[in-house]
Amino acid sequence: MPRYTASPLAEHSLALITGLQTPEGAYPASPSFSAYAGYCWFRDGAFIADGVSAAGEAASAERFFDWCAGVLRARADHIRWIVAETAAGRPPTGSRMLPARFTFDGRDGTDEWWDFQLDGYGTWLWALVEHGRRHGTDLSPWRDAVELTVDYLVASWQRPCYDWWEEHSEHVHVSTLACVAAGLGAAADAGLLDQAREADTRAAADGIRSLVVAEGVQDGHLLKWLGSTAVDGSLAAALAPLGFVEPGSGLGAATIDLLERHLTVDGGMHRYLGDTFFGGGQWPLLSCFLGLAQLAAGDRDRAAELYEWAASTATAELALPEQVDRHLIAPRMKQEWVDRWGPVATPLLWSHAMLLRLGAALDARPALLVTELVQEGPAR
Ligand code: BGC
Repeated sequence: MPRYTASPLAEHSLALITGLQTPEGAYPASPSFSAYAGYCWFRDGAFIADGVSAAGEAASAERFFDWCAGVLRARADHIRWIVAETAAGRPPTGSRMLPARFTFDGRDGTDEWWDFQLDGYGTWLWALVEHGRRHGTDLSPWRDAVELTVDYLVASWQRPCYDWWEEHSEHVHVSTLACVAAGLGAAADAGLLDQAREADTRAAADGIRSLVVAEGVQDGHLLKWLGSTAVDGSLAAALAPLGFVEPGSGLGAATIDLLERHLTVDGGMHRYLGDTFFGGGQWPLLSCFLGLAQLAAGDRDRAAELYEWAASTATAELALPEQVDRHLIAPRMKQEWVDRWGPVATPLLWSHAMLLRLGAALDARPALLVTELVQEGPAR
């Protein structure tokens, strides 16, 4: 009997996500939060699709991939223009690049947003290929959209852009690079690309790795952006589920260690030191990413603790928030955000999806029971 994926909270999470998925296949980031209502992000959506795919809802994930493909196909000429201009030495300004989020019917938003973000385009590729592996799905219906994405990323990955938190567009962010490299590597391995494109894709993924080793690592751990000295909670994803860095390697271990020591209080993880958004609370989705990294590195007990902490943030109605204020970095900043945007986004679908994803990973790697050890004897 699965312990984590069969819990009332997990069942509610799956029903919430699939129930809110729009007829077009988009996943609303949060149905009620003023600043997010009406929009689907490539980043949130790709991790949500990965979560529901791992929890067995293959059809929902595929409807999301169809939505992504529709968004990309509708912009095929624009993407080719970006690629051609970049090749000609005239990279378009950030406002002409693809946005981070779209309306459910696939249009660009009309309100101001910190839109130029590359990570989601890598993450959707990665999630699609993971899904294909997990369920044995033929990915050829998405081939043209994969090609467009690969061309866009191969041309653009070196550019500074906004990060996962839609901040610091002047930097090249290591977790953004991890998403892009994971997506490019997955697309190349999936056998969907012609030979020349596959070679360019692998070269870009290798280039990203070399750059991160040269400029995105200090004292043996990953950094928030190239040349920075700080870390960021999103780096946990570079280890797992993205596998950009081997979780059991020295680099993986040192990164986990720093994320635990600098950003985690109890099982709750902050985004980064200095965060002031809603006072800079703890994000259950980040605790789940760290849990995935810990599990992949072999620490199942810590992964289970991080899961329990994330689950403990659910409201009485089983809604998981974007963040909780149990331990605020900048308590005096909270009210300013409440006045601006209303209470913290709740439910946040990405939080629910990460709980599903970590739950599925924990269920797939059950702890050995003492009775099993006695019956089977020690491992050979
Ligand atoms: C976060 C993004 C997220 C968006 C929608 C923002 O506050 O910084 O990472 O994609 O909310 O959930």
